Amino acid sequence: MQAQLEPFHAVGISRLAHALKAQGRSIIHMEFGQPSTGAPKAAIAQAHQVLDADNMGYWESTPLKERLARFYDERYGIKVDANRFVMTCGASPALVLALSSLFSPGDRIALARPGYVAYRNTLKALHMEPVEIACGADVRYQLTAAALAALEPAPAGVIIASPANPTGTIIAADELEAIAGVCRARGIRIISDEIYHGLSYVEPAQTILAYAPDALVVSSFSKYFSMAGWRLGWLLVPAEHIDRAWAYCGNLFLTAPSLSQHAALAAFDALDELESHLTVYTENRRLLLDALPGLGLNAIAPPDGAFYLYASIAHLTDDSLDFCKRLLNDTGVATAPGIDFDPVEGKRFIRFSFAVSTPEIAEAIRRMQPWFAAQAGALMAGQ
Ligand SMILES: Cc1ncc(COP(=O)(O)O)c(C=O)c1O
Repeated sequence: MQAQLEPFHAVGISRLAHALKAQGRSIIHMEFGQPSTGAPKAAIAQAHQVLDADNMGYWESTPLKERLARFYDERYGIKVDANRFVMTCGASPALVLALSSLFSPGDRIALARPGYVAYRNTLKALHMEPVEIACGADVRYQLTAAALAALEPAPAGVIIASPANPTGTIIAADELEAIAGVCRARGIRIISDEIYHGLSYVEPAQTILAYAPDALVVSSFSKYFSMAGWRLGWLLVPAEHIDRAWAYCGNLFLTAPSLSQHAALAAFDALDELESHLTVYTENRRLLLDALPGLGLNAIAPPDGAFYLYASIAHLTDDSLDFCKRLLNDTGVATAPGIDFDPVEGKRFIRFSFAVSTPEIAEAIRRMQPWFAAQAGALMAGQ
């Protein structure tokens, strides 16, 4: 039977935002988790240079994989062989590759709810069974070792994400270690989505490889490296899984874009520029955190990393999609409805992406203040 996938509602919001823009409206795009900064200058310069010199055939860049291996050593103090990287067109195909090469149709895969919409839908598309674990404010909206230990029967695998989308919460190192322990004991394979690594406002996120060397790590150049449209990511697999991952990648996707691989190698020479984006996000996060109580949004997930703020709007609505549409229509501020990330509780949540410029964040807050006050006022008047 064909899998039924739900739409990504933020895409609909974005379409509406662009339609309003075409009518001359001023729009602030906080609906997608995409850096508003372009690729690092060094990456763009390198791309210009190689366009004339390289015939752009199918290619897996050994220098890039070696640089990635060095990056793991520099960032985490972990030694990995460059051959363990499979380059992909972003984290999305890396996830497909990880799931399809590890599991079979019908396998049960655990994941946190709320969580990134594509986890649930990719599992469904591959005819695997998502086992969603409700994770509330008490556990910072994150999977815990205890929740995985309590799951009966044990799932075949688990997808963890830290920092997470939509909350930005990070799994603390000791909890990550405990999760790895439970998975080892119960034979649960781990896929760790580390796409938001490098974007932390508290302690840096630790890689799962520190505790589970046999985990599969999904990541990409889309977020920290600010190269979303270049469609480049990687899957890092244990040595014993390389041949299988290669066979799957060669058949399903062939290779990642050559131009992007050239550019990404140069991006490693631009870490200062990338860190300057983090300075902007830090200020945006501070502005939003300061403003939210004034909007009446007091129940929020602690945004430890990524560039998201997930807030409860339960006191105002139980229809987050309608709420986001009205907010956009009235103020020009585009946001993502919680139902994209949590089909059960998400009706009462909204996600703000603060990967825009600081002046845009300030302007969004200025527009939202009277609007949120009016929503609360209207509810009071109706009571
Ligand atoms: C948690 C998470 N994983 C994966 C992806 C997919 O990223 P990519 O652009 O690398 O395919 C996203 C995109 O927003 C994401 O938020």
